[in-house]
Amino acid sequence: MLPFPVIAIDGPAGAGKSTVARALARRLGFFLLDTGAIYRSLALFAEQHGVSWADGPRLGALAEQLPIRFGRGDEDGAVYLAEQTVTTAIRTPEVSLGASQVSAHPEVRAMLLELQRQLSRSGPCVVEGRDIGTVVLPDAPLKIFLTASPEVRAQRRQKELEARGVRADVSDTRREQEERDRRDLTRATAPLKCADDAVLFDTSDRSLEQVIDDLAAIAKIRLSL
Ligand code: DC
Repeated sequence: MLPFPVIAIDGPAGAGKSTVARALARRLGFFLLDTGAIYRSLALFAEQHGVSWADGPRLGALAEQLPIRFGRGDEDGAVYLAEQTVTTAIRTPEVSLGASQVSAHPEVRAMLLELQRQLSRSGPCVVEGRDIGTVVLPDAPLKIFLTASPEVRAQRRQKELEARGVRADVSDTRREQEERDRRDLTRATAPLKCADDAVLFDTSDRSLEQVIDDLAAIAKIRLSL
């Protein structure tokens, strides 16, 4: 049994997961555990220690002693690695690539499992990732799987890139998304999958406000808030 209310949010890139998870956590006054930030921090930590993103066993050993800390309260959203702020350093395209590579190793996933469970036990929280409802917290009392149509997801990604000043062709964006989906859905360890008992929620035709209103209402009923 989990000691506090927990909401697991999973789904593919572009479904609006990060934005929705953050806004929902804020609305409910819950802590947000962004598990992607853990994989990203491990990729950065490996780089700092000269460990290759292809070396599963050594990455597993690093993961065991990953000195990660998430900011709380006023520091909400901040990520620290060995007490150094890495909040923005873990969002570069290079570290994104590294995170995707390190997250594919079974040794890494096994080692980070306990850390994710520990962090989600510290208070009421929204836990966002790819395998939260299926592997990390199979007992979560509320699981949400966010999706959106491939067109909408590609458009969102395109907008996000443009906002960052990155020029990209729409068809390239769509192709990269299909490739990432294929990798996420077919990887041997913890593939992206909707848990049988998850609420499947399509964000394609809803505004963020509507999505949060709906999910907060579901959470209040299911978690007796
Ligand atoms: O959600 P994100 O883009 O910050 O995730 C970074 C990488 O980590 C991404 O390649 C997917 C991976 N990841 C994962 O495999 N399992 C999770 N629970 C969270 C993220």
